[in-house]
Amino acid sequence: MSGDLYERAVAIAQRAYAPYSNYFVGAAVRARDGRIFEGVNVENASYPLGICAERAALARAVGEGCRPGDLDEIAITASPCGGCRQWIYEFKLDRVTFKNAAGEVVSRTPAELLPETFEL
Ligand code: THU
Repeated sequence: MSGDLYERAVAIAQRAYAPYSNYFVGAAVRARDGRIFEGVNVENASYPLGICAERAALARAVGEGCRPGDLDEIAITASPCGGCRQWIYEFKLDRVTFKNAAGEVVSRTPAELLPETFEL
């Protein structure tokens, strides 16, 4: 299952809009009801306004009605940044599959990626 989702992330990465970094990232999130939502990084000439692939995929899921607890797993073609780890934690996913800095595809829990997390 994780492998299939990771392949979806790899396939969508080519649609990234990353003219500044040329670093194309894809993400695919699977809801517990089986729906899959994809996202890519979208950069901007005003650099801080860019959005990561993970957050684009999660925002898409939210727009389709998903809420924290509705999502099972996310796959990402890069190691998620700190801000995306906080987003992933918020949505209470069970598992995060990603390609780490060593080039290995690994699976972790959100808490493993962001221990002692801030919560309101
Ligand atoms: N990027 C992501 O899409 N996800 C991450 O978690 C890491 C970084 C994007 C943001 C930017 O467009 C590019 O990768 C280089 O940082």
